[in-house]
Amino acid sequence: MSLIKEVIVNKKTNINPIWIMRQAGRYLPEFREIRKVNTDFIKLCLNEKLASEITLQPLKRFDLDAAIIFSDILMLPYGLNQKVEFKKNFGPILGELNLNEISRLDEIDFVKKIYPVYKAINIVSNDELTSNKSTIGFVGAPWTLLVYMVNKQSPKLKLKKNFYDDSFLLNRILSILEKFLKLHIKNQIDNGAEIIQIFDSWAGLLSTKDIPNYIYIPTLNLVEYVKSLDTPVICFPRGIKDYKEYCEIIKPDAICIDYEVDPKKILKEIKIPVQGGMDPKILLSDKDNLKKEAKKYLDIFKDHPYIFNLGHGVLPETNPDMMDYLVKMVKNY
Ligand code: CP3
Repeated sequence: MSLIKEVIVNKKTNINPIWIMRQAGRYLPEFREIRKVNTDFIKLCLNEKLASEITLQPLKRFDLDAAIIFSDILMLPYGLNQKVEFKKNFGPILGELNLNEISRLDEIDFVKKIYPVYKAINIVSNDELTSNKSTIGFVGAPWTLLVYMVNKQSPKLKLKKNFYDDSFLLNRILSILEKFLKLHIKNQIDNGAEIIQIFDSWAGLLSTKDIPNYIYIPTLNLVEYVKSLDTPVICFPRGIKDYKEYCEIIKPDAICIDYEVDPKKILKEIKIPVQGGMDPKILLSDKDNLKKEAKKYLDIFKDHPYIFNLGHGVLPETNPDMMDYLVKMVKNY
């Protein structure tokens, strides 16, 4: 069994597996090389040969315990025929959302449109670099996808003023998302994903009263679905105010924490395996500080099932040497 599964399934505390969100990405020169000549990000995700190669790039350099497939949470709206573009230094821009069209969309057409994502997972999970490691598949949580699909760009600090006006529309999209997210998860698992992570990057935007409808109900549904496929599920509700309540209601197999929560509070309140937490900016400082901060998380969670990761994705300006130092340090802890 892979070390990450040993932590999640068998609740082992004497091992320190590590993987890093956005471990395949712009801080790696070999990624930038490929990206330079592949200017269309979606097309790159749909090139199974390059997508699998990029996924494996960090595993060639560092002794990481998982490969996370090089794709994007926005491949789902793309598969639903909503236009998705990535503008440099701005982030994603989505096109008009045609509710009638996505309501009628056939599951086969969706799968056809993003099929290379599943092929890439298949290639990665069969590569010797991932033998006795975990291949992680992922989806965006219904709420975060709803935000992108309706807001049509990253909300940064706040949503468009009229975001909540049409609650019929919002709930209709949520139910369509449920159907296609399940399909997307199932296909990833069938092609070799052994763990699913659900990214709820905009969980922190909701006021407490809206959390049940937009987060708890739809996410619980998805988590139960992943569990029914005998696959561990990690949830990352970035910025959520109450991680304890979230875990009690959603009951994921592991919880990934962001860098703004106090890890000691998490240790006290949460019984399930924990992942992540360290601020990605620490990797921009020096090795002594990096060692000190990484050790802080490892010390706090030394008797708790814990997977080392950051509290958000690794920053593009990170020096790969710092990543190398971090992985070695965690492995030798
Ligand atoms: O973690 C990994 O290594 C796997 C690949 C992965 C990507 N995106 C590749 C990517 C994963 C798991 C994601 C998830 C994702 N995508 C999230 C959830 C996690 C988070 O960051 O909160 C979100 C919100 C998105 C949507 C998205 N995709 C945004 C906002 C952006 C632009 C951000 C930026 O830094 O410009 C992307 C583009 C993206 N997705 C890149 C990568 C490597 C950068 C592409 C590039 O310009 O080269």
